[in-house]
Amino acid sequence: MISWEDAYRTTPPWDIGRPQPAFVGLVQAGELTGNTVLDVGCGTGENAFYLAQNGFSVVGVDLSTRAIVAAKAKAEERKLKIDFRLANALSLEFESGRFDNAIDSGLFHTFTDNDRISFAREIARVLTPNGKYFMLCFNDKEPTDWGGPRRITKEEIEITFSPHFNINYIRDAYFATRIHDNGGRAYLTSATKKAD
Ligand SMILES: C[S@@+](CC[C@H](N)C(=O)[O-])C[C@H]1O[C@@H](n2cnc3c(N)ncnc32)[C@H](O)[C@@H]1O
Repeated sequence: MISWEDAYRTTPPWDIGRPQPAFVGLVQAGELTGNTVLDVGCGTGENAFYLAQNGFSVVGVDLSTRAIVAAKAKAEERKLKIDFRLANALSLEFESGRFDNAIDSGLFHTFTDNDRISFAREIARVLTPNGKYFMLCFNDKEPTDWGGPRRITKEEIEITFSPHFNINYIRDAYFATRIHDNGGRAYLTSATKKAD
């Protein structure tokens, strides 16, 4: 079992020093709504920085102290105002309906079956009515010979999120890493919170 704190002793494979192209595409296509974004499992913050540079008010949460310390240092260096916090995405301290959007770059595919259910409920709770959730995860077409997190099927995404969300799409995408030349096979999911 990977220790997140240990992973950040060096530069982990997912920490590519730039935003994930899939999220850049979402912003360019105007798919995020409103103004506020929660980046769950934000790591050292590259997706959060990109969103802030594009006018969004961003809060980033991560379980790793090292990741949050690194994200805060980068924010200061780049003069970007982002609220980075140490927090568990399965039990968030935010009031219900706080965010217009939530983004997840590589967090969902790390969860156990039980945690997936709690996570979907918690993300839905902190989103506004009709708030949007965007998620990038490795999919079942990505080879397993190099290890890495669980590969996720479309059915698993539908089963986990459909109690709380309408799924807009689950698209083929790439997860850029430091160990792939052209990214790993991934799904990009867009989901809108169901009305209560
Ligand atoms: C694969 S990394 C992706 C990091 C970042 N989103 C990126 O794209 O660079 C997954 C991140 O989720 C964090 N994480 C794992 N479990 C978490 C949890 N329960 N709550 C918040 N963050 C968590 C890890 O510390 C790690 O930074």
